Amino acid sequence: MESNGYQSGFGNEFASEAVAGTLPVGRNSPQRVAHGLYAEQLSGTAFTAPRAENRRSWLYRIRPAAMHGAFERIDIGTFHNDFGDGPVSPDQMRWSPLPMPSSPTDFVDGLFTMAGNGSPAGQHGVGIHLYAANRDMDGRWFYDADGELLIVPQSGRLRVATELGMIEIEPQEIAVIPRGIRFAVSLPDGEARGYVCENFGALLRLPDLGPIGSNGLANPRDFLTPNAAYEDVQGNFELIAKFQGHLWRAPIGHSPLDVVGWHGNYAPYKYDLRRFNTIGSISYDHPDPSIFLVLHSASDTPGTSNLDFVIFPPRWLVAQDTFRPPWFHRNIASEFMGLVHGAYDAKAEGFVPGGASLHNSMSGHGPDAATFEKASSADLSQADVIVDTMAFMFETRAVLRPTPQAVEAGHRQRDYQACWAGLKKHFTPLR
Ligand SMILES: [Fe+2]
Repeated sequence: MESNGYQSGFGNEFASEAVAGTLPVGRNSPQRVAHGLYAEQLSGTAFTAPRAENRRSWLYRIRPAAMHGAFERIDIGTFHNDFGDGPVSPDQMRWSPLPMPSSPTDFVDGLFTMAGNGSPAGQHGVGIHLYAANRDMDGRWFYDADGELLIVPQSGRLRVATELGMIEIEPQEIAVIPRGIRFAVSLPDGEARGYVCENFGALLRLPDLGPIGSNGLANPRDFLTPNAAYEDVQGNFELIAKFQGHLWRAPIGHSPLDVVGWHGNYAPYKYDLRRFNTIGSISYDHPDPSIFLVLHSASDTPGTSNLDFVIFPPRWLVAQDTFRPPWFHRNIASEFMGLVHGAYDAKAEGFVPGGASLHNSMSGHGPDAATFEKASSADLSQADVIVDTMAFMFETRAVLRPTPQAVEAGHRQRDYQACWAGLKKHFTPLR
């Protein structure tokens, strides 16, 4: 399966065929499909969802998706949705990068669940995972019935061969694989590490822009959906399903990436975070991080997201008489952060590429002591040009429950709170 370019736009009615004459005209399911293919509809929203939110695609394929053996449960390993229901520590937490595996490990086996909330059964909330892999998925395909997957590579490129075509991404790009779409990941650089947010709720979409106007933030034309590509391969293969928080395996006698043509608006896509049109203050004060919103999953409450995907890209800080880095704060929302590249402007050290932090609802956080001292005496007559950086945040409405394996992990920095211990008392009432 080779990459064959992309179609531009977000949520468009895309259409692509790898063999000319595949797509029917004037109907979706003709009595006989061209080239002896089967027609199959893939629905990502309720049939009756409003037109603006309705997502479905028609696939024209060599064999229907129904053709495989019975599923059997397999060991959950480190990838699951067991976020527990006991007490949750309000501690701020931080982790160093997930170590690379010492034995051959593919993308699915390399997933390590860090935190989450909600559930696939409830169709709200998220699972947050890290991955570290050093082997291609070979004769093995995966789909997630529980949510769409937002993949954020930090190290190493990924070739994601999906039913609807090939997506290739590198660090500072992202991919979104919708719920149910089968795919395999290979590693052109031999190994790879990054972050995955599994969204159980409403599909990710671009935010409204309000007073920003008709342009800005992530522009729709920079989202790329693959063209159709297929493989016609038989063998003794394996289909892995994630279903209600558990992994299942079924034998399959052919590659499920056998879609010769497809049309519709339910499809995987990629986006280059370096194309984000960053907007910020040109007078005073650091704006709320919602100004950096790339994609969000709406909840049932207007203005309150199930998930916000926010980035902190290179930008100029020019605000006057202002503490320029992010201020100290506590939010009702909960924040899981990662760093793809460079340094983050609110932390002097300890938060490194591949690392992660968790600041749960109402847990105080902000710049560390070194950053505070530096920013409090910075020369504001000069712009602060932040280059070579790409941090991001998965921000959720509900509290993120770290998994026991994340809390107990060897790469957790148990002394994280010490980064604020050096903040000095400056209060001088009589001056
Ligand atoms: Fe924060």
